[in-house]
Amino acid sequence: PRPLVVDTDPGIDDAFALALAVGSPEVDLRAVTTVFGNVSLEATTGNARRVLALCGRHDVPVAAGADRPLVRPQPHRSTHVHGDDGLGGQSRSLPVPHNEIDPRRAVEVLADVLRRAEEPVTIAPIGPLTNIALLLACHPELKPRIDRLVVMGGGLETGNITAVAEFNIWSDPEAARRVLVEEDVPVVLVPVDLTHRCAVDPEWLDALAASGPVGAGLTSLTAPYRANYRQALGRDVMVLHDAVALAEAIQPGILRCQRMSVEVECGTGPTRGMVVGDRRRQSVNRVGREIEVAVDADLDALRAFLLERLARGR
Ligand code: BDR
Ligand code: CA
Repeated sequence: PRPLVVDTDPGIDDAFALALAVGSPEVDLRAVTTVFGNVSLEATTGNARRVLALCGRHDVPVAAGADRPLVRPQPHRSTHVHGDDGLGGQSRSLPVPHNEIDPRRAVEVLADVLRRAEEPVTIAPIGPLTNIALLLACHPELKPRIDRLVVMGGGLETGNITAVAEFNIWSDPEAARRVLVEEDVPVVLVPVDLTHRCAVDPEWLDALAASGPVGAGLTSLTAPYRANYRQALGRDVMVLHDAVALAEAIQPGILRCQRMSVEVECGTGPTRGMVVGDRRRQSVNRVGREIEVAVDADLDALRAFLLERLARGR
């Protein structure tokens, strides 16, 4: 299996993403690093540990990273979507982890995994990009040890936290700009334009709930999250943004990608945190850096893949 680290801010879809990583034999989850985002760093770290415990994985190191953005304060959390505790008010119903939290900072754990791994490591950042920006700033010599960053973030056609910005990028645009634009590590960006199209329906959730303890545990977190999407999208579907990104980290090519230049808006006006993707044929005034952006997938096959792996649990 290929080495993988998930950098996360659980978060309900983050919980699904972690369970997917645990349930997939193609990857070896070497560590989970946490970042502020949907809720506070303290809460995201506790949530990551409890989700791993639900999946029977008390052995995966969990290390806490940044508790705030690099430059400007995060305007607000995402408790309206994920609940006050980040897991739909259900975090205390999940099993208590056996192991201790790793005493090292996230950046040091990421660096250590990169140094020790026998092959380049896939990193899946599914929260604000603060830890990853710090990693690249502190340990530039380790960049060749990164196979790919599979990042959940951005929206080329729409935003979700503002009209034009997606939550992870908007939470720390300066960090996102460093990772997506200024550095030269390979990036696959999985934006909300695609994750929304991969939404799952009530039948899918019923099948997951009936699949076993991990599926039932994950489903038990989703009531407020589901209600939020029902209201936002006008249909009873649920969007598993971070799990869609993990699918690509686990099975490269499961998402169809297009290479394009992207730039991140770091100004303080109404477009702060927007990812601008340049899909024009001509190159006049092209800005930013060329990365891979996920634009399409076999949607039914992807949903079946997610269900099969989540149902497998550990
Ligand atoms: C992203 O924002 C968070 O609320 C989710 O966990 C996901 O990572 C979607 O915009
Ligand atoms: Ca997330």
